[in-house]
Amino acid sequence: MKVIGILSSPRGKNSSTRKLVESAMKGAQEAGAETEMIDITKLNIEYCLGCATCHRKGECAQTDDFQEVMDKIMAAEGLVLSSPNYIDNVTGQMKVFMDRMVDAVHLQLLEGKYGFALCTTGGGNEDIVLDYLNEFLIKCGATAIGAAGAAVGKDPASINVASEKAYELGKDLVEAIKEKRRYPEQEKIHNLFKESFWYTVSANRERWASNYEHWVQKGWSR
Ligand SMILES: Cc1cc2nc3c(=O)[nH]c(=O)nc-3n(C[C@H](O)[C@H](O)[C@H](O)COP(=O)(O)O)c2cc1C
Repeated sequence: MKVIGILSSPRGKNSSTRKLVESAMKGAQEAGAETEMIDITKLNIEYCLGCATCHRKGECAQTDDFQEVMDKIMAAEGLVLSSPNYIDNVTGQMKVFMDRMVDAVHLQLLEGKYGFALCTTGGGNEDIVLDYLNEFLIKCGATAIGAAGAAVGKDPASINVASEKAYELGKDLVEAIKEKRRYPEQEKIHNLFKESFWYTVSANRERWASNYEHWVQKGWSR
């Protein structure tokens, strides 16, 4: 079983958020998973061009480091997303990465995978970022099992509490994957997406040929 942890703080070894991801990876490892942390800020990942080539052809028009990371995510069962709070949102690097995953939303590519979110802040509002990251996981078809955050500027010791929580979440992620844990509220969101997005896919069937084919093959057409 593989678990990937995505880092999006540009602060490298000095990053507080990185500490949470390291704890999460440790927990997942001790529960039996093979883990990899990927610092996307050190990679060449360009902005999404909005060209819809992914929806049309099933692959991105740009050749940079994005696809290699995406291939690793696709080969994993678990995905941990992390970001510091940057003006009550994720870092620009994380947002660019999420935009590049737009086809994963259209195709529900993370269906069957499990994940959770991690965030550190200076003064607060971790929940805004944590909710945004977990909602993104769910939007891609994955199941979110929890979140951990700390306002390290306001309370430096809070990183220790959040690290412990991240470690436990890492362990729990492996359990959730093993037992194929079900979350009815998230299943409702997944089902609603499949009910409504088909109309968008079929209305754009010429422009989004690859998306259309995927939906038909999956039996999600109506
Ligand atoms: C550009 C920028 C914007 C930030 N915006 C916020 C913010 O809106 N709210 C907040 O509480 N902290 C904010 N912070 C502080 C960081 O979230 C905080 O220092 C975080 O722990 C940094 O994580 P890192 O060490 O993993 O990079 C901001 C920091 C930067 C550099």
